[in-house]
Amino acid sequence: MLLSDIATVVGFDHCLTDPDLRAAYEVDWTGRYRGLSPAVIRPGSVDELSAVLALCHGAGQPVVVQGGNTGMVGGGVPLRGELVVSVGRLGNLQVVSERRVRAGAGATLGRLQQAADSVGAGFGVDTAARDSATIGGMIATNAGGINVVRFGPMGDQLLDAGVVLADGSYLPSLRQTGPDHPAHGLIDLLAGSEGILAVVAHADLTIAPDPAAVAVAMIEVPAARLQSLVAGVGGLPSIYAIELFGGPEVELAASGLGRSAPLSADWLALVECRSDDDPAGALAEVVGDLPAVVATNPSVGRELWLFREALTEGVSRLGIPHKFDVRVPHAGLNDVRASVTAAVPNGTVFVWGHAFSNRDGHPTANLHINIIGEVDDEAVFDVIENLGGSIAAEHGIGTAKRHRADRARDDLAALAEMKRRLDPKRILNPAVLLPDDF
Ligand code: MLT
Ligand code: ZN
Repeated sequence: MLLSDIATVVGFDHCLTDPDLRAAYEVDWTGRYRGLSPAVIRPGSVDELSAVLALCHGAGQPVVVQGGNTGMVGGGVPLRGELVVSVGRLGNLQVVSERRVRAGAGATLGRLQQAADSVGAGFGVDTAARDSATIGGMIATNAGGINVVRFGPMGDQLLDAGVVLADGSYLPSLRQTGPDHPAHGLIDLLAGSEGILAVVAHADLTIAPDPAAVAVAMIEVPAARLQSLVAGVGGLPSIYAIELFGGPEVELAASGLGRSAPLSADWLALVECRSDDDPAGALAEVVGDLPAVVATNPSVGRELWLFREALTEGVSRLGIPHKFDVRVPHAGLNDVRASVTAAVPNGTVFVWGHAFSNRDGHPTANLHINIIGEVDDEAVFDVIENLGGSIAAEHGIGTAKRHRADRARDDLAALAEMKRRLDPKRILNPAVLLPDDF
C-alpha cells in the first residue's frame, strides 16, 4: 500500500522495486557496506520529496537518504532494510550572483564548479570524487576536501538551505525559520548532521573569484622536517591546499597512472598556492633546501595533482579497503604509519590526507588511512585516540563509527535534542551517527 501510494507520487519508473535496478543503491561504492531495501524512491521535485516523506512518516517507514553514493562510512545504504530515498534527480543549479549559487541536493560538485566558473568564480570545497559526490551528501557529512585549509569545510560555505523534515514539511529557508519553529537553529547543525535531522532539498552556497596566479609543488619531506614545513606552508597567505602522502602511496598512484613517481621520501607534500601576483617565490622560501618539483603552469600543476587524485581508486583496485578517516594532531603524524602497521600485522597500510582540518590554522590533519587485508578496526581507532586524535574527520560517523561517536563528536546531545524535536519516530537515517541509546 505504502509503495503504491509512493509510486503514484513519483511515477512507477522512479519507484524501483526490481532487485537489479535497486542493486547499485544497496551497496556503497567501496563494496564494504551492503543492505537490502524494499524499493528505491527517486523524487523529481521538492514537492515529490515532501509527499514521499509525509507518506513514510504516516506509515512509520524508515528511510535512508542517498546522493551520489560516494560515502565512506555506510551512511547512505539501507543496512536495516530502510527505503532508499535518492535525491539524484534534484540536481537543479542556479547562479544567483557572482557570490552565490543555489544547488539542488542531487547536483554534483563538478556541475556546481562549472556553474561557478561560468561567472568567473570558484567553490571552496573540492575532492577527487567531484563528478559523483552530490551537494546534499557533502553538506550532510560536512566534507572538507583538498581546499579545507583555505575555505574550511562545507558548513563554512553554507549561506542557506531548504530542507524537508521527517513529516514531509518543506522549509524553503532555514535562515528565516523563526524562533517558534521546532527547526529553529537547524541551520547551525545541518552540516555534519548526516541526514538524521532533515533532508537537504537545496542549498545556497558561497562562491568567489579564484586568484589568477598558481604554484603547485610536490615536496620531499623527511619526517624530522614535517611539522615545520607544514606550519610554514600553512601560514602562507596564498595557501590553497596541502596534501600529505608517502612513498607507498605515490608508488600506488604511479602504477595506476602508468607513470613513474616524480619523488619519494618519508612524506610528500603536494602544495597549491594562489594569489593575484606570483605565489611561487614565497612558497620557495618556505620550502628552502627540500627537493621539490614546482609548476607555475596550471596544466603542469594538474599533472602533479594526478598523483594525489589517483589514490582512492588505486587502493580500491587492490581490494575492498578498510577506510579510516581520522583527525590527527601534527605532533602525532610521524607515528601514524608505524603505529597503525603494528596494530594490523596482516594488513597493508596506506596513509594520505589533508594537512589541516580547517582554515583556522589549528595543527590537526584530516588523514585517510586505507588498509587492505585483515583488520581489527577497534585497534586502529585505539591507535588514533592514543595519538591524541579523533576517529572521525570529514567522512562522517555513518554506521561504521557510531558505536564510538561519543568519543568523536561533542555535539551529540544537541543533535539528539534536535532529532527528538524534528523526527520523533526516528525514520530519517535511523542507523546513522547517533548511537541507539541516544
Ligand atoms: C580523499 O581525500 O582522498 C578522500 O576524502 C578519501 C578516501 O578515499 O579515503
Ligand atoms: Zn579527504
